[in-house]
Amino acid sequence: MAKSSSLFVCQQCGYQSPTFLGKCPECGSWGSLVEQISNPKNQKVKKAVLQPGSITYTKDIEQQKYPRLVTKLEEFNRVLGGGIVVGSLILVSGDPGIGKSTLLTQVALEFNQLTNGNWTLYVAGEESAQQIKIRAERIEASSNLPVLNETDVDIIISTIEQLKPNLVVVDSIQTLATQDLESAAGSVSQVRECARRLQETAKKLHIPTILVGHVTKEGMVAGPRTLEHLVDVVLSLEGDPGNTLRVLRTTKNRFGSTDEVGVFDMSESGMVEVKNPSEAFLEEKVNAPGSAVVSTINGLRPILVEVQALVTKSNLSIPRRVGTGVDNNRLQLLVAVISKRLNFPLYEMDIFVNVTGGLKVLETAADLGICMAIISSFKDKSLDPKTAFVGEVGLLGELRKVRNLDKRVNEAKKLGYNKIVSSETVKSLKEAGKLV
Ligand code: TYD
Ligand code: MG
Repeated sequence: MAKSSSLFVCQQCGYQSPTFLGKCPECGSWGSLVEQISNPKNQKVKKAVLQPGSITYTKDIEQQKYPRLVTKLEEFNRVLGGGIVVGSLILVSGDPGIGKSTLLTQVALEFNQLTNGNWTLYVAGEESAQQIKIRAERIEASSNLPVLNETDVDIIISTIEQLKPNLVVVDSIQTLATQDLESAAGSVSQVRECARRLQETAKKLHIPTILVGHVTKEGMVAGPRTLEHLVDVVLSLEGDPGNTLRVLRTTKNRFGSTDEVGVFDMSESGMVEVKNPSEAFLEEKVNAPGSAVVSTINGLRPILVEVQALVTKSNLSIPRRVGTGVDNNRLQLLVAVISKRLNFPLYEMDIFVNVTGGLKVLETAADLGICMAIISSFKDKSLDPKTAFVGEVGLLGELRKVRNLDKRVNEAKKLGYNKIVSSETVKSLKEAGKLV
């Protein structure tokens, strides 16, 4: 069989080169050459007379129920849409140190009952088996997890093919490499090719495979972003490093809804599920100027969060607008709407906004709450402690309807927030501003 070799292809113009070049000689773009495997055997395939492909009518297809592995961690099942679909490829991404390995070791331990012939393979490319042992024993003192310390993806695949575990965890995809490519482990081409090979194996043998992917500091290069199209489910583990709350969010799911969140507390012995996230996120809330409670919807579940704002006099010619857990562009827009509609001199103010607990609130239904926190801090007056806010703010300063208002109201009432300010009760931001 002809040996496969590497080929570097410009992603802009398609120029091909047998060696890596920093600049494409054809179109002049920099850093656009990506390594690919060229298989001389495949190139010679002649397009002879091909049979037409067969067409299926959707009416004739029997609806398939995906078999799922249901874990004891309900919050984990929830983000997956009810458990791990057999044969699926799941990417768990997050900053280093956030708790990805801890969470997946817990999942792996649960499915590792060697006695029934069920067992899980934990592929450790990043840490030694010794380190995995320490983590596993922290979670479960008597644990016995089968670990494969390997970074060659082809050896990993042949191990999976021969031993057929019921679940594979690969920690992490950035440490794997195939010898068919010349580039180093962690490069875009290696990450993609290794994930593609693992996907093939997962689909062929119906073995669910979970990949860990680090979000790299240098933006998204060679990070989880390059794999999003390839995998079935993308989960991201988020949280404030100074806090033990962790939020697992679905950003893509071929077998369930997206934007679903699972909430965990990072304890001394692994991740503990948080059954009532609204309570957890509001636990440390104090009633002070700049604090507003917002009722958000994440996937199917309503969660109450506290939005904090700090508005202070700026010494800079371009004052700062810094948002954590909110969309920064949206924040700029809301500040502009407040300045215009309420006539506040925010052009000379620095504005900081933070969602406590590390949850990201990206839906526009949080607009009103963010604005109220800013207005409250600007006026230096607290909001009513028993009021929650829901509403999208339009450019004209009008309040707009949000989806699932009843769910949000019910969740707020459950936690004692009896008064809900929304487009049903208040028509404009100006009117809402008078509540402070
Ligand atoms: P880890 O799962 O290694 O993070 P990641 O794989 O995302 O890089 O977890 C890192 C931190 O979690 C580390 O500082 C130790 C802490 N930790 C706990 O708090 N409780 C535990 O049970 C374990 C295993 C780790
Ligand atoms: Mg890790």
